[in-house]
Amino acid sequence: MDIKTIAAPLHEQDTDAVIAFLFADNQLHSAAKALDEALNGALTELIEAGDLSGEAGRVLTFYPRGAIAARRVIIVGLGSVSEFSAEALRRAAALGLQRARTLKATSVAITIAGTGRGGLSIADAAQAIVEGGLLGLYRYHGYKSKAAEEDNDNPQSITLCVYDDVDIAAAEQGIHIGRTMVEGAALTRDLVNLPPNVCTPPYLAQAATEMADEVGLKVTVLEKHQMEALKMGALLAVAQGSDTPPRFIILEHNAARASELPTVVLVGKGVTFDTGGYNIKTGEGMRSMRADMGGAAAVIGAMRIVARLDIPLHVVGLAPAADNMISGNAYRPSEVITASNGKTIEIVSTDAEGRLLLADALVYAARYKPAAVVDIATLTGSCIVALGTAAAGLFSIDDTLRDKLLASGEATGERLWQLPLFPEYSKTIETPNADMLNSPGNRFAGVGASAAFLRNFVDYPAWAHIDMAGKMQHDKDNPYDPGPFASGYGARLLAEFVRRWTQ
Ligand code: BES
Ligand code: ZN
Ligand code: ZN
Repeated sequence: MDIKTIAAPLHEQDTDAVIAFLFADNQLHSAAKALDEALNGALTELIEAGDLSGEAGRVLTFYPRGAIAARRVIIVGLGSVSEFSAEALRRAAALGLQRARTLKATSVAITIAGTGRGGLSIADAAQAIVEGGLLGLYRYHGYKSKAAEEDNDNPQSITLCVYDDVDIAAAEQGIHIGRTMVEGAALTRDLVNLPPNVCTPPYLAQAATEMADEVGLKVTVLEKHQMEALKMGALLAVAQGSDTPPRFIILEHNAARASELPTVVLVGKGVTFDTGGYNIKTGEGMRSMRADMGGAAAVIGAMRIVARLDIPLHVVGLAPAADNMISGNAYRPSEVITASNGKTIEIVSTDAEGRLLLADALVYAARYKPAAVVDIATLTGSCIVALGTAAAGLFSIDDTLRDKLLASGEATGERLWQLPLFPEYSKTIETPNADMLNSPGNRFAGVGASAAFLRNFVDYPAWAHIDMAGKMQHDKDNPYDPGPFASGYGARLLAEFVRRWTQ
């Protein structure tokens, strides 16, 4: 897709469609006003007739019949000025471009809205429009034997129109960031959408390697014998029930400058399918478990963005990947296993497997002497009970790290909500038989117990844990999150966090 910026008004564009935006107070300003004038007051008339309104979610298509060069005018509501944010603009842009696609418009011009009364900078507005628009046009192609007709109907060219001595360079920078964010999030979505017989640990490692080669990241993939040499007994206990071998994926940005730059490590849970093991899930519970590598996919997507934006930090992405299956060799409840830091774990539930992968990865992260470590995982149903699908849970032992993550979630629309690390939660995983249990004996605060568990493997001052179980699936009420299954949650969030760590 060709995306460019020009300093010219929307109504001069000779495209299949032009897209403009309107706030809920229906006041025609700047681009919309100029468009209305070029249309001899048609928009004013539509507003007065009650047919056009700027309420959030409203989209109106209008056929200008020669008054301007474009074939169609699409007006999208932004909602109220007081509630406006980049998130509102992302959603509106998605609705506008989806309408253009439905109408088979191959060339589209869009005005960069939100900078005047909306209060966004030109760069942020351009980024939000590109990000929301392209995320909204995302499609997963799947494995239909006959390609769908709709597969290639995305607009071919998008022109962002700016004028009134706007800083074109800033707009172009915003577009670049937006496009890069979408490429990362789309990779995350693709990986999560894939069926579990395709997206196995070796496949995930292969996909990460191809991406790394494309964008210039260093990549290392550890195989089972290397994990054995590192004594990763927790990860290996989970992996041993499957005929498909595990992989430990390591992506590195600025590897050659590791000694001079601060290091940030991102860790993602990569359970390519979670049956629950001998603590087997129900059919219903298993239905979405191909998304149990959503954390790993988020880290891989984020690393792509970090590389493309060339963030001036040493950034490491770790993705421990394994299947959680049942077999004659699968691990069982009551077994005691030993993680790579020597700590022993008594298994209560083979379904609390993600924290076992993360344990060995968090231990591995310490070798980089990191300034910050953030892990992300579809870790507990308990987090969904606590927060629903409205936010991912955030635990942090460092307030600066927490604040940067919360701000990143706010900026990207990938919301986080802090949950406590009370000492009581550590008590719930005490056992006479080992250093800890892998899950508590009772069903209270399971999400807190999971974070308390992970903390046993953290040996650096700034660590945060994100439980994205409620966020792995797409949100049907969000226009730029069209599914059909994966949300792509975490890629933009983590990349934005890394950007903010430099500031
Ligand atoms: N992958 C699941 C968590 C999950 C559940 C993610 C539903 C998304 C939707 C995880 O491995 C798991 O099974 N956790 C258990 C932990 C329990 C056994 C302590 C859970 O949440 O029930
Ligand atoms: Zn599980
Ligand atoms: Zn799991």
